Amino acid sequence: MNPAKLAIRIHEWRNDIALFFEDITGLTPTDDQERFLLDMQDLSKDRSIISAGRGTGKTLCLAVVALWYVFVLPKIVRQPIKVVVLGGSFEQSKNLYNYIKEWSYKHDYIKRELAKEPTMTETLFIDGSWVKALTASEKQVRSPRADLLIIDEAVEAGEMLIEAALQIINASKYPRIILSSTPHEFSSLFVKIWDKPSEFGYTTYNWQAKNCHWIKQDTIDKAKKLLSAGMFQIEFEGIPYAFTGSVFHLEALKLCLFKTIQKVDEAETIMGVDWGFYPAPTCCIVVQRVKDRIKVLHIDSYLKEKFEDVLDSLEQTAKTFQVKVIYVDSIPPGEGIRLKDRGLPVYRIAFKGEKPLLISNLQALVEQKRIEIPEDFFALISQMRAYRFDTKKEDDFVDALMLACRGVSTSVSTSEDLTELIYIGRRNMRFKNPFKKDELDPKLCSRCQKNPKWAHDMCMDCWEKFLDEQG
Ligand SMILES: Nc1ncnc2c1ncn2[C@@H]1O[C@H](COP(=O)(O)OP(=O)(O)O)[C@@H](O)[C@H]1O
Ligand SMILES: [Mg+2]
Repeated sequence: MNPAKLAIRIHEWRNDIALFFEDITGLTPTDDQERFLLDMQDLSKDRSIISAGRGTGKTLCLAVVALWYVFVLPKIVRQPIKVVVLGGSFEQSKNLYNYIKEWSYKHDYIKRELAKEPTMTETLFIDGSWVKALTASEKQVRSPRADLLIIDEAVEAGEMLIEAALQIINASKYPRIILSSTPHEFSSLFVKIWDKPSEFGYTTYNWQAKNCHWIKQDTIDKAKKLLSAGMFQIEFEGIPYAFTGSVFHLEALKLCLFKTIQKVDEAETIMGVDWGFYPAPTCCIVVQRVKDRIKVLHIDSYLKEKFEDVLDSLEQTAKTFQVKVIYVDSIPPGEGIRLKDRGLPVYRIAFKGEKPLLISNLQALVEQKRIEIPEDFFALISQMRAYRFDTKKEDDFVDALMLACRGVSTSVSTSEDLTELIYIGRRNMRFKNPFKKDELDPKLCSRCQKNPKWAHDMCMDCWEKFLDEQG
């Protein structure tokens, strides 16, 4: 673009960020993105909050706005403009920043205005405008002064950080803050602001996966089928959901009860074990997994038995049902190790960390009537009826069942992105994505000594091989 053309284009971009979006990315903004971009042209709208589903284009769109701020706006207002990008983690702010860096190289008309080579975290323009990606440490947040502050995945940034960050734009003539996130933590400041936007002075935007043409309908349909209603609402519709009260609705639970359960010969059986400390019992549940459905076959509990006797009994049950996998709570460690030493296929799960996901998984099974429970398993059923998100006692059967049903929804998924979307490795929820290599526990696999292992002793590849070998 020659200078004269660029000058005209700059003025067009000033009043049409959607056009800038297209020119920069080569993509067409969705209606949701366009509505947001239109508001961004109005500099008096100083506080915006986007609550949206995962993968709906938040980061990309915010990167366009950030670039518009440092490349277009300074030429209109005739002063340098500064943008700070913060993320729930440094990785996140860098994701956003990397888009800007990439586009600055890609488009010659931007490249020739760079004051120097962009660094890992900073792009500086000749006129003094800049974009910086900051780590989410409070110390850093206190330092710079800027005009636009973007906090991506703000739920993870936490309350303190959001409050501390606000002063970054205090002294600006054109101050603006944009918060954006998937609303996955109900108690976060992000969700509080979203719920009472006028109190905080924010304009709200909600983007849903169904309006994004690049998210396959098939993925959405599958997620709707496999995720609990709450999880779907958060991850795909971008609407906060309060996980409070009863986990299993009575009406739904009733529909999952059967007089007899038909065992399927060729389907794999799985055992879940929740270790108890007196007065809580150790509970064991055996289920059969038939595609994305669960049949509960057996429950057992041990209260005052000697530990060796409990192990004997568990071993016996495992052999009777020819279980393929035994999921046990990794705490306390000794119990699972000793059961494993008996040559059983024991996998120790960091139960506490995975619990939010395991609850959602079991809740989805019940809501969608994908689980069959014998109606005379009273102990289990009464615990399920009473189970609340904050239940801490008399929940041992339910915990064992959650372990036995672990991964059932994902095991049938053929779609990579669905697994991605369901197992979101989020710091705040403290669970790991066992499918994503870069979030793995860095220890090496006990079998191949190469690939990092995940929650079990084996890496994903060996774990799959192991299952094949077993049958
Ligand atoms: N308007 C659009 N048209 C086509 N693809 C888009 C559009 N907006 C975003 N995307 C793509 O969607 C994917 C997810 O975008 P991203 O910004 O990372 O989403 P989020 O931050 O909401 O999780 C990216 O591959 C991005 O290129
Ligand atoms: Mg993002």
